[in-house]
This record gives sequence, C-alpha cells and structure tokens, in this order.
Amino acid sequence: MGKITIAIDGYSSTGKSTVAKQLAKHLGYVYVDSGAMYRAVTFYAMQNGLITETDFNKEALIYQLNKINISFKFNEALGFAEVYLNGNNIEKQIRTLEVSGFVSKIAAVSEVREQLVEQQQQMGKDKGVVMDGRDIGTVVFTDAELKLFMVASAEKRATRRYNELTERGDSVTYEAVLKNVVDRDYIDTTRKDSPLVKADDAIEIDNSNMTKDEQFSKVLQLAIMTV
Ligand code: C5P
Repeated sequence: MGKITIAIDGYSSTGKSTVAKQLAKHLGYVYVDSGAMYRAVTFYAMQNGLITETDFNKEALIYQLNKINISFKFNEALGFAEVYLNGNNIEKQIRTLEVSGFVSKIAAVSEVREQLVEQQQQMGKDKGVVMDGRDIGTVVFTDAELKLFMVASAEKRATRRYNELTERGDSVTYEAVLKNVVDRDYIDTTRKDSPLVKADDAIEIDNSNMTKDEQFSKVLQLAIMTV
C-alpha cells in the first residue's frame, strides 16, 4: 500500500493536532505539528528581546532567521515528536497563552513562512506524513491526497483550550482564552501571505458536537478510503 500525504488545516484549537497524532500513530506515519514551528520562532523572538508588550522587531527577526534551528525528536513515552529550538526541548514553553498571543503576528511575516514552509516540504517529501496547520493543503502540500478542514464554534474551541491550559496548571481566564482564539482566527484569515482558507478539495469537518472518538473514526474512515 503506497503512503499518502494527509493535510489537516483549520481554525485555532479545533483539535487538529489530537486527530493528526491519532491518525499518524494508527497508520505508522510521521506527524508534524507545523504550528509548533511558528510557536518556536515566536519563543525565539521572546527570548531574544525582539518582542515588546504590543509589538515586535520584524527587521531584527528576519535578520536572525538563520540562527533559528527547529527540529523534532520522537518521545517514546508521549508517543509523538517534541519540538526543539537550537537543540533545546521547548515543547512546554511554546504552549503558553503568552506565546499564543504573539504567534499569529509572527506567522504573518512572509520571510518566516518561506523558511518554515521549505522545511515542512522537506519533512514530507517521502509522503507518509500527517501535517496540521493553516496552509498545509493550500500551500505546503497542494497535492496532498487527503485534505481535511476542521471547524468548531469559537466557544467550544475556547473551552477545550481553557481546560487544557488549566489542567496543566496555567492560570488563565476563559475570557482571555476566547479572545485569543478569536484574535488568532482574525489575523490568520486576513493576512496577505497564505491566509487560512479551506482548500477547494478539502473535506470540512465540524467537530463542535463530536467526541474525540467519533472524530477519529470519521477521519480514519476517510484516510482508509484514500490510501
Ligand atoms: O496550530 P497552532 O494553534 O499551534 O498554531 C499557532 C499559530 O501559528 C496559528 O494561530 C497561526 O498563526 C500560525 N500557523 C500558521 N501556519 C501554519 C500553522 C500555524 O500560520 N501552518
């Protein structure tokens, strides 16, 4: 059976990564969290003083892009690959609301996208990959055999993200999480370079009222039909 490329795009916190991880594990494919790469660049900018309270130094970031090395290493215990920035595991640090608050602005910079898209295409060149993000079916792998587009109401998405953050001990309010989800949707869908949009050949899945199991069996069925 030949391996295929599976592109999963959609709005923030629609459960893309959960289903992508399940699918990759089931099919024996590589899972790539492209959002983690934009988060890693954002984390680099934060650590290197390129971000102020409301803005960031775009020119300096572009100048320093060649100093940003992002890699993934499979963690057996977790069952998925964690993200590394210049050799350091930053999987936990990139999931904070602070990083979420800036990542969409950084992801709107064309030079950042160019570098990350090239790396993503390299990672998927042999197929057998499930990649989730915002532009995977429209830019990174336009010829992906299966393209999914995940949607859910903003309130459902904010509730899920709020539960995730509070369960790991972050002190956040539901209102702040909801605002972040809505703000990111806006920036991601209105940016000039590679805006979030459903690819013409993508299958839309609204998981507002689906359990994780229901979602997985639906997606698995689509994957099996495509392979
Ligand atoms: O998937 P996640 O929510 O972690 O992505 C964080 C942010 O990275 C998104 O809100 C978006 O701004 C950006 N992103 C992107 N293109 C991708 C993946 C993520 O612009 N392929």
